[in-house]
Amino acid sequence: MLRVLAINGSLRTGSHNGALLRAAAALLPPGAELVELTGLEHVPAYSEDDDASPPPATVAALRGALVSADAVLISTPEYNSSIPGQLKNALDWASRPFPDNALRGKPAAVIGASTGMFGAVWAQGELRKVLHTIGAHVVDRELPVPFAQERFDASGRLADDLLRQELGDLLRELVADARRVHRTGEPTIALAS
Ligand code: FNR
Repeated sequence: MLRVLAINGSLRTGSHNGALLRAAAALLPPGAELVELTGLEHVPAYSEDDDASPPPATVAALRGALVSADAVLISTPEYNSSIPGQLKNALDWASRPFPDNALRGKPAAVIGASTGMFGAVWAQGELRKVLHTIGAHVVDRELPVPFAQERFDASGRLADDLLRQELGDLLRELVADARRVHRTGEPTIALAS
């Protein structure tokens, strides 16, 4: 079974991005499962002074979870037109040692929900840039979910046919890339046209 590590950039109970990740779990192609990362809130503030061997236990756990995942799916809220600080902080830890870090060549995809009308588009763009800089292989799609408070029904299902379709497409692409890495050891290289 192919493991997709789900990371919620929101630490909030009742997070809409958490709901979006649960909706994603239901839309994964056969043969893939979503595994939720927990404990993001316990990752300490990054300092090069503490980035030593062994690293803090929560950082070791974060890096271990990334290494053992076949792909990573991050759902991010938008905070002040960017990604939440604790998510960026965790990714800074994950990026070291550079370039041979736990995300290098790892298939990754970004989705996001906000209560506003733009669906965290800026945060998703920034997160994709950060992941690309770290060395992940980032799917060339996003999924902005605007007015997130209206998008999920009582059972947590994403109650929007178009969004469900787009999320399914994004997940198929992510899983296909992870399978390719399994087979060849290399992610797809997107050639400029
Ligand atoms: C927000 N929110 C927000 N929304 C947006 O579309 N653009 C933004 O720049 C911001 N900025 C922002 C800053 C801070 C500090 C907070 C707390 C919130 C609203 C945000 O999208 C909304 O709270 C989401 O519901 C957060 O995601 P979760 O926690 O529901 O997953």
